[in-house]
Amino acid sequence: MSADDHSPGSPARPYDQGAWWRDAVVYQVYPRSFADANGDGEGDLPGVLARLGHLADLGVDAIWLSPFYPSPLADGGYDVADYCDVDPRYGTLADFDALVAAAAAKNIKVIVDIVPNHCSAEHPWFRAALAAGPGSPERERFVFRDEPNNWQSVFGGPAWTQVPDEQWYLHLFDSGQPDWNWRHPDVVAMFERVLRFWLDRGVAGFRIDVANMLFKQEGLPDVVPGSQGGPLSPGHAAVPYEHQPELLDLYRSWRKILDSYSGDRGAAPVCTVAEMWFGHPDQARPYLKGDGLAQLFGFGLMPTPWSAEEFRTVIDTSHRLARETGGSIPWVLGNHDVPRMVTRFGVDQDLVRAPTPEVLLGRMDVDAELGARRARAAALLLLALPGGAYIYQGDELGLPEHLAIPDEARQDPMFERTLRTFMGRDGCRVPLPWSGATPPYGFGAGRTWLPQPEDWAALTVAAQRDDPGSTLNLYRTALAIRREHPALGDGDLTWLDAPAGVLALARDPGFTLMVNFGAEPVPLAWHHDVLLASGPLDGDLLPPDTGVWLS
Ligand code: GLC
Repeated sequence: MSADDHSPGSPARPYDQGAWWRDAVVYQVYPRSFADANGDGEGDLPGVLARLGHLADLGVDAIWLSPFYPSPLADGGYDVADYCDVDPRYGTLADFDALVAAAAAKNIKVIVDIVPNHCSAEHPWFRAALAAGPGSPERERFVFRDEPNNWQSVFGGPAWTQVPDEQWYLHLFDSGQPDWNWRHPDVVAMFERVLRFWLDRGVAGFRIDVANMLFKQEGLPDVVPGSQGGPLSPGHAAVPYEHQPELLDLYRSWRKILDSYSGDRGAAPVCTVAEMWFGHPDQARPYLKGDGLAQLFGFGLMPTPWSAEEFRTVIDTSHRLARETGGSIPWVLGNHDVPRMVTRFGVDQDLVRAPTPEVLLGRMDVDAELGARRARAAALLLLALPGGAYIYQGDELGLPEHLAIPDEARQDPMFERTLRTFMGRDGCRVPLPWSGATPPYGFGAGRTWLPQPEDWAALTVAAQRDDPGSTLNLYRTALAIRREHPALGDGDLTWLDAPAGVLALARDPGFTLMVNFGAEPVPLAWHHDVLLASGPLDGDLLPPDTGVWLS
């Protein structure tokens, strides 16, 4: 692909010209649930290494590892007690190095997760801050106040917790995750050391956790009542802890560090991908235009119901924003924070638009077969759109959300913090099924840290590997075609004039994607050679809930 394809904005982003991430397919590994090498019921880094073959066969370009750092797991590892080590439950730094080397041998890059908004209450600096008391320099690295303001935690409940000496500390997430004070030079310097630590170990990129929140408005003004979104809601209005202008300078300074690892050393440039829900394109534009962040996740499709019109609106908004800024917004259909798409697409779609209290608790009717069909069609859409894409572990197997986890087994702090009105995010974090007919399906030896459903025998990697019609083989074939086909990956798209309920787009040269979101079969059009279909075709007709790649 020539640099010219990467249009406007590029002079401000010299590192970005034709960069590998602009059309990469990245697979998200949630280490605790991917593969368990030591049989303790929790995944680990040697487990990932042992299963690299699965990822190489799938054909992904990179993996992103969710946090594997030492952590008391108040929030599944997004509460980091030491940013420069591996939690013993996941292995050692030597295991990490071995994984990076083995992945490189298979042409797979490794992206790590950096969690800069907050640490763990067990982090040595937070313990020192508690011990040192009010007014101490140690407390300045965090956000301690004598009186809390009205901010609410993203996980539910107040964003402040009182300590025995009566001061309060800010935590926009769980009380086990104190927010850093990003106006303190120690914090800035510490994260620069963290970046260099992992760069020295050969990582290809950083996924930046809650990248929009680090800086808080001076004076910590109250939020205007009603302007805060619900738990992890995509549409936060402007609140005084999001999108502060200092973020742009911070990410620019990080980019300088990252570039110092590629230029002279001849290595590929280093990616940053920011977790940043943006309610409106205006919130995202400055980051995409600026020369700091390489990518913002394109989360828009995740909360979108199964509707051609609604999908098209989201795709248009993101794609236009990417073209206009020259930035990169990889597509996402699932991650460790949202219900699995098989389940999202298998319920009454009005419940996706407006979840009821029952839905928040996972108590609704799900047509899993319908959801699985739609999720397969969505996979063909994901991989045909211009730009990069992220695949969440288990989506390549068509796993549904596990809705029947007993309350006492739930681990996500959101369950308790929302006073049990939201089931939390455990249902998409269940250990993967590798083989066998009953739990633990080849994941370790016995009990898994979250229970697996009893009916996943047909969904294991082993069961799907040799079945040409399996979801796993659909993904494999799609990725293989994507690697070879000149129209796929980065570039542009043209909408085709399709019947209502059908989404059709062309990519040059000679490629058409059609997805039938409607209830009636529609004729295949524009091209007639079927490269790949997400389900059986009916002669020259594309059945409902089916997608097809044509040339
Ligand atoms: C991000 C992570 C989520 C975590 C939160 C707090 O949203 O994806 O899993 O709970 O940040 O770190």
